[in-house]
Amino acid sequence: MKAVRLHQFGGPEVLSYEDAPVASPHSGQVLINTIAAGVNPIDWKTRDGGGASGFLGDFPVILGWECSGRIAVISSHQGRSQEKNTQGADREWQVGDLVFGLLNFPEAGNCYAEKVIADTNHIARIPDGLDPLLMSGLPLVGLTAWQALFEAANLQSGQKVLVLAAAGGVGHIAVQLAKWAGAWVAGSASSYNQEQLIQLGCDQAIDYRQQQLDEVLSDIDVIIDAVGGETAIAALDCLADDGITVTLPSVSAAQVVDAATKKNRKAVPMRVSPNAAQLETLAQLMADGELKLNLDRVFPLNQVADAHLRSQNGRPQGKIILKIAD
Ligand SMILES: NC(=O)c1ccc[n+]([C@@H]2O[C@H](COP(=O)([O-])OP(=O)(O)OC[C@H]3O[C@@H](n4cnc5c(N)ncnc54)[C@H](OP(=O)(O)O)[C@@H]3O)[C@@H](O)[C@H]2O)c1
Repeated sequence: MKAVRLHQFGGPEVLSYEDAPVASPHSGQVLINTIAAGVNPIDWKTRDGGGASGFLGDFPVILGWECSGRIAVISSHQGRSQEKNTQGADREWQVGDLVFGLLNFPEAGNCYAEKVIADTNHIARIPDGLDPLLMSGLPLVGLTAWQALFEAANLQSGQKVLVLAAAGGVGHIAVQLAKWAGAWVAGSASSYNQEQLIQLGCDQAIDYRQQQLDEVLSDIDVIIDAVGGETAIAALDCLADDGITVTLPSVSAAQVVDAATKKNRKAVPMRVSPNAAQLETLAQLMADGELKLNLDRVFPLNQVADAHLRSQNGRPQGKIILKIAD
């Protein structure tokens, strides 16, 4: 198969489009013929030697943690398999099923490839009518937003939420999920994305270059921080006394948590985990029209370096996706 492999960490030039061996699925796994893979900031941070690089194992490694595709091989059974996923739902898999998932995170996901092995409790079916290409970009941002809002922050209907980087991959899903859950939602973005924030459902759109957060917001119950650093620290001044910031960029997490402690506020770091049941819920929300995933741009797999550069410039409007097959 063709895959994009790393033989060392470094700039976009270390992304090598080349032949790679195809693995066989073990018990509880399937082999997927990949249709598309999502690109996320963690991909280029890891390519550079940061991010999840410590979890990957020996070179060569294949980046990419989220994908969509068709099941090609099911371990240990001919064509059919029944199992319980970690959340207890019975699921039956068939060769040909269209699926999507967040695979193995933070260990190697191997999704920048024509074929990938997936644990069946890391994938969910794509409902009829949804575009598999688009669905490849949902797992990482969808699960991050879900787990940040409903697990880390335990968001309740009627609470006030601030999403930092509300037009970005995680942010635009977090805004929609918080609205769906009955929250009042403010979002921050540049002037370029203000209209986008309103379309997503933000009750208040904030231009972070023109407005200072603590001058326009107060008593926020939940901040979803997809920016980190000084921006996240300044936003702590908007929190209610018993509010919480869930800070996502790992590089500044300790700094944000320390600053919160000094300001007598609460901030917690979070790392997204694969979760099939949550993926099923997100897919159903997409099928019901309650949730939309914005597509920034599609690149063919062999132009992955351009896709990384676009993500690295920090201005994508929604998800960047690598198309691998029809
Ligand atoms: N811990 C985890 O499990 C986890 C999971 C997912 C993501 N993350 C991290 O979360 C961060 C965001 O990820 P993503 O996928 O959402 O990234 P993304 O799609 O690349 O988001 C970029 C967005 O950031 C916005 N932005 C930049 N500076 C900003 C500022 N000062 N205030 C408000 N918005 C600003 C940009 O909007 P404008 O163009 O309008 O400026 C752009 O829309 C990354 O650091 C990523 O690694 C962590």
